[in-house]
Amino acid sequence: MWNILLFYHIKNTYISIIKTRLYARVSAILFDKSVINVYNCRRHMTIPQILTKQLSAALSTVLGDALPEGFIPAVTPSQDLRFGDYQSNAAMMLAKQVRTNPRALATQVLEAFGESEAATLEIAGPGFINFRIRPEFFASMTEAMMNDERLGVALTEQPKTLVIDFSAPNVAKPMHVGHIRSTIIGDTLGRLARFLGHTVITDNHIGDWGTQFGMILWGWKNILNQEELAKDPIEALLAVYKEVNTRCKEDASLLPVSKAELVKLQSGDEENLSIWKRCIEVTKIGLEKIYSQLDISFDYWLGESAYNDALAPLVEDLIAKGIARESDGAICVFSDGFHKPQNDPFLVQKDGEWVPVPAIIRKADGGFLYATTDLATLDYRTTHFNADSIWYVVGAPQEKHFKQIFDIERMRGVSGDFRHVAFGSILGKDRRPFKTRSGDTVSLQDVIDEAVTRAAKVIEEKSPDMPEDEKAAVSQAVGIGAIKFAELSQNRMSDYIFDWDKMLALTGDTAPYLQNSYVRVRSIFRKIDTQFVKPQSLTLTEDAEIHLARMLVRYGEVVPSTLDDCRPNLLASYLYDLARAFHSFYEACPVLKSEGATRETRLALCDLTASVLKHGMCLFGITMPERM
Ligand code: ARG
Repeated sequence: MWNILLFYHIKNTYISIIKTRLYARVSAILFDKSVINVYNCRRHMTIPQILTKQLSAALSTVLGDALPEGFIPAVTPSQDLRFGDYQSNAAMMLAKQVRTNPRALATQVLEAFGESEAATLEIAGPGFINFRIRPEFFASMTEAMMNDERLGVALTEQPKTLVIDFSAPNVAKPMHVGHIRSTIIGDTLGRLARFLGHTVITDNHIGDWGTQFGMILWGWKNILNQEELAKDPIEALLAVYKEVNTRCKEDASLLPVSKAELVKLQSGDEENLSIWKRCIEVTKIGLEKIYSQLDISFDYWLGESAYNDALAPLVEDLIAKGIARESDGAICVFSDGFHKPQNDPFLVQKDGEWVPVPAIIRKADGGFLYATTDLATLDYRTTHFNADSIWYVVGAPQEKHFKQIFDIERMRGVSGDFRHVAFGSILGKDRRPFKTRSGDTVSLQDVIDEAVTRAAKVIEEKSPDMPEDEKAAVSQAVGIGAIKFAELSQNRMSDYIFDWDKMLALTGDTAPYLQNSYVRVRSIFRKIDTQFVKPQSLTLTEDAEIHLARMLVRYGEVVPSTLDDCRPNLLASYLYDLARAFHSFYEACPVLKSEGATRETRLALCDLTASVLKHGMCLFGITMPERM
């Protein structure tokens, strides 16, 4: 008994000695330039951060007081590995300011930088400083990453309270492809922000209080098929809405009747209120089903109606503060002249002149608008949730709306990191808006179903002998993964073409390719007879090994910058490059047939590749199957 305890004690001490040694190695490199100890050396630093610190020290040695205060030299990955791994334009930036020749300054900086354990330096072109990372340094960074459960991704130093507003479909209206994009991008941003240490609140701001309820109420009372409603509530309500819409066009007397239903609802009629509540309930049930298939959830479902009581006082307050005023019976916010006209969201250019486009917050008939609700919603989020950041994942056509909302907040003296995370459209193969064959908007449920069916065919071909239940689970992971990855690997601002064959292909930058890469790595470990134990140190000699390590240690750089720019495509293309680096490595370097330290290193690289692929895809909400 004591022997076992003693063994564990020694083992743990040993492990922590190894860990300390690794961190000490990284921090020794940091401190050998007598950089002031401002950071916690237990924190995992990325290579550019390490180089930035060292470069700052060298710059201050060379320039002394002439170094502008707070200057942080940028160290970025090189576009072309022939010029090294990273580069900095700091010498060029500073040469102008201190009036010297950039190459001469770079030469001095290199001298002050001295011999570095991390990299060899050279000067290129007009004064770029190129850094070529030493293989031993890649090895020690990889070792540190291997022993870090966060895989080298540090927690943010400035945690925010961030509300992410995404998905937000409208009750009894079709959930269109724009909602698909919002749902997938918003969910990923939430996962990324949480992982980086922010407090994240996801809120599904559904459109549950619109004029569509006039027609829905009439339809519910007169034509609704309860059986259909029980089967598929979203489709049933949509069918009612469409039917009443058509009937209104044919029979002019129906429109005022349905309007009257809306007015009754708005003035609190019990029957209409209870039908309205039922509509929302059944819609939520339908939506929950879709979200659970997608593995997406929300902390709150505060739809537009949640703010109804806040709208009237909000408008009064804006009038009292002189921010809003009456115009043709409506209450509007006009430009306050703060911005240049070209940046002013309350102005547009018409025939060479700037004309006002006010935000209407109360109509002449007393009704409130989308903008009013969004102002009230923002208030609630900043006061109730204490949010300092609110990100709206909504299509690009609403750009003006959000610019106006954020500008009204500026007029009210409310500030924060308010962002419209916009995106372009999804197009069909014909480059026209993505529609079904009959010309209808494509429903998210149909897209999911078709993706899983198509993925099942791929799996059937690839692994006909897999047990049926596993086939079903893998098809789900591959199909849904394919939709998500196709979305996330696009630059969100550009329109993209929805192409089933491309997104489900086993080659190229697709989810199935990455899932298959993961499966390949994992299969290596099923072939070794002993339990894999992480080695204490790695020795990188082959180019393909070094390149794989280079890609692996970049994970800690890529994840934070993906969130900073709200650009999931950065992480997506990183994962694709990593998988490709793995495949080249696997072709060039035998793993199972190698021996001793080489085998240990290669197995460790494989293991870490699997962890990063799985983790990265998990940030996208994509499951990695163990076999496929
Ligand atoms: N329901 C809106 C639509 O379908 C999107 C809502 C976005 N969020 C917001 N706070 N405005 O266009």
